[in-house]
Amino acid sequence: MRTQTLKLTTCAVAVLAFAGLSFAQVTEYQEQQNLGMEAHADHVTGHASGATMDYRRYCAGCHGVLGDGEGENAVWIDPKPRNFTLATFKCRSTPSGTLPTDEDLFSTVGRGVEASNMPSWNPLSPQQRIDLVAYVKHFSDRWKTEKPGTPIEIPAEPALTADRIKAGQALFQKLECWKCHGVDGRANGPSADTLTDDQNRPIKPFNFHDQTKFKCGSTDRDLYRIFMTGLDGTPMPSFADNVKPDEAWDLVFYLRTLQPMHTKEKEIAKQLGLKPINPNAPAPAAAPAPQPQSNEPKPQ
Ligand code: HEC
Ligand code: HEC
Repeated sequence: MRTQTLKLTTCAVAVLAFAGLSFAQVTEYQEQQNLGMEAHADHVTGHASGATMDYRRYCAGCHGVLGDGEGENAVWIDPKPRNFTLATFKCRSTPSGTLPTDEDLFSTVGRGVEASNMPSWNPLSPQQRIDLVAYVKHFSDRWKTEKPGTPIEIPAEPALTADRIKAGQALFQKLECWKCHGVDGRANGPSADTLTDDQNRPIKPFNFHDQTKFKCGSTDRDLYRIFMTGLDGTPMPSFADNVKPDEAWDLVFYLRTLQPMHTKEKEIAKQLGLKPINPNAPAPAAAPAPQPQSNEPKPQ
């Protein structure tokens, strides 16, 4: 029994040592290749090789030295730091499932991620931040084989009207945003407690009633972009296939009526006496179905 365990252990150690050796060899070579990764935004060019020190100092504690999201602080943090080896990102201007642009990552790093432990890195210089973006990209081969998606087009914001807010509310009901976000945006819809992210971790919908800023920005255009591209890796889908560009603005206006800060949209909703949607209300009475005319002779 003892010898058997001992043999097994020796064997396991040997296998591990061998695997470790070949892994280290491959990564050392690949690492040099991968550190050639570049990023471009705001007329600055980033080089992954320029961010090695900054990444270890500022990012590795959460995102891990290997970029796998398993830094030493990760256990204490919810939501968990992003695993960069998967190259799945929440904040993108590009369609669902595609890689974000360098500009997308550059603005995320500068802005930080609201309602999470991801800080804003604007105190670092633009050069440092774009180097870090290249470094984030160097963790996944997806950036070598795929191009970022084409950013969605966002038409100019139309004039706000009461009709647009009402149309936006109808969309909120029809597209079933309420199932997760709740009828008045309190993140308490019937599905809210059942949601998990791609890595099977519980995740909460955004609470419009309490929160002013989104993870992926805070302007009207950011809001438009969020539900037209979705947050990859989460149950928050893209609605690009279900919403026309003009309708998307109606939805933006309606969502603004749900938020805690004072908005023009909220003012209009108040004047309208707008009530939260009621998805359980009986459907409006349908016209009576025509009765079969049983006493008339049937055509032969
Ligand atoms: C204190 C922990 C912490 C540190 C330090 C940190 N991050 Fe993060 N980061 C997070 C968390 C947590 C998330 C995930 C937030 C979420 O999913 O809501 C995240 C997400 C990200 C994302 C993905 C955003 C998206 O669109 O999905 C990027 C890119 C990123 N971090 C870059 C960096 C860089 C670069 C640094 C270092 C300069 C850094 N982070 C330092 C915690 C941290
Ligand atoms: C299946 C559930 C589900 C549905 C349906 C859904 N959402 Fe979400 N939504 C989520 C989750 C979960 C999050 C939070 C993601 C996160 O924190 O990473 C979210 C986040 C958001 C955010 C904030 C994103 C950010 O950057 O912080 C907005 C805005 C949003 N949803 C709008 C909508 C709209 C509009 C609809 C309907 C057209 C909708 N959602 C439908 C689950 C859903």
